[in-house]
Amino acid sequence: MIEQFKADVANGLSATPKSLLSKYFYDEIGDKLFVQIMHMPEYYLTDAEMEIFEHQADKLATLLAPTTGTFDLIELGAGDGTKTVHLLKELQKHREFCYKPIDISSHALASLKDFLQSELPDLKVETQQGDYFEVLKGIADNGNPKAILFLGSNMGNMLDHNAKRFLSSLDNAMNAEDKLLLGLDLKKKREVVLPAYNDAAGITKAFNLNLLTRINNELGGNFDVDSFEHAPEYNEEEGVAKSYIRSKVDQEVRIDSLGESYYFEKGERIHMEISRKYNEEILNAILGDTSLVLQEVIKDSKNLFADFILTKQST
Ligand code: AVI
Repeated sequence: MIEQFKADVANGLSATPKSLLSKYFYDEIGDKLFVQIMHMPEYYLTDAEMEIFEHQADKLATLLAPTTGTFDLIELGAGDGTKTVHLLKELQKHREFCYKPIDISSHALASLKDFLQSELPDLKVETQQGDYFEVLKGIADNGNPKAILFLGSNMGNMLDHNAKRFLSSLDNAMNAEDKLLLGLDLKKKREVVLPAYNDAAGITKAFNLNLLTRINNELGGNFDVDSFEHAPEYNEEEGVAKSYIRSKVDQEVRIDSLGESYYFEKGERIHMEISRKYNEEILNAILGDTSLVLQEVIKDSKNLFADFILTKQST
């Protein structure tokens, strides 16, 4: 883990332009900052998808569950379960199923289990800890049909070619009767998107800069965090938000465990994160030559966010 972190930081900081990987945002402090982000007034994504799960759970349940028999409901990057619980409650009314949340954090899985135990004591739950790319490969084909959930616009943090690869591995893991629900933020105007990544209280700034602090703590970095600023962008045409941090001065930063120093010119940026926004056309282009096809799109009442339901194309 630490070796991979070292290698990724060394690669990113020696590249031109410089970059770091947003998956490293999520240390203990980063996790807490992300919870704060989800509660910010500017960050509309969480509330919009929550509204879909609260008000349209019956529709989701009908689309995801097979008409008869038992099935597995697999959730990738399950988190705290506060959205999914509405779907689980609906499904429990008339379906037999097992809920299988997968998350990188064993801590998140343990508190999810406790939460579900109190909300839905009769629910069958089997948690699996790991990176969902890895765990996906191991999703045992136990013969039960499955519905896979990937919520929160998490796929938006993948570059398009990685999203393609990801969907193609999901496609390979799915059988004819299986379903996939992708929760994705919709492409929309800059005035709505940019503030979500550039909030007035500076929480997103702290979330980005925390990765420099993490490098200082875990890799013996010597970043003077205050000499960098947060500089997010949104390209409305492309539908892509990008987060950068920018050096306020000419400076050299040594990272002891890498045995290297990196030079930053005043105004030079480090690319930190991409958050792609979707619509049907963009999603269809990314689905490419997989056998996955769009069956239904369910949006919130303000048309900010969508849960896309995909199936395998029947041949
Ligand atoms: C987790 N992910 C979908 C968030 C997003 O909207 O791209 C991460 C985030 N980055 C800054 N704010 C939120």
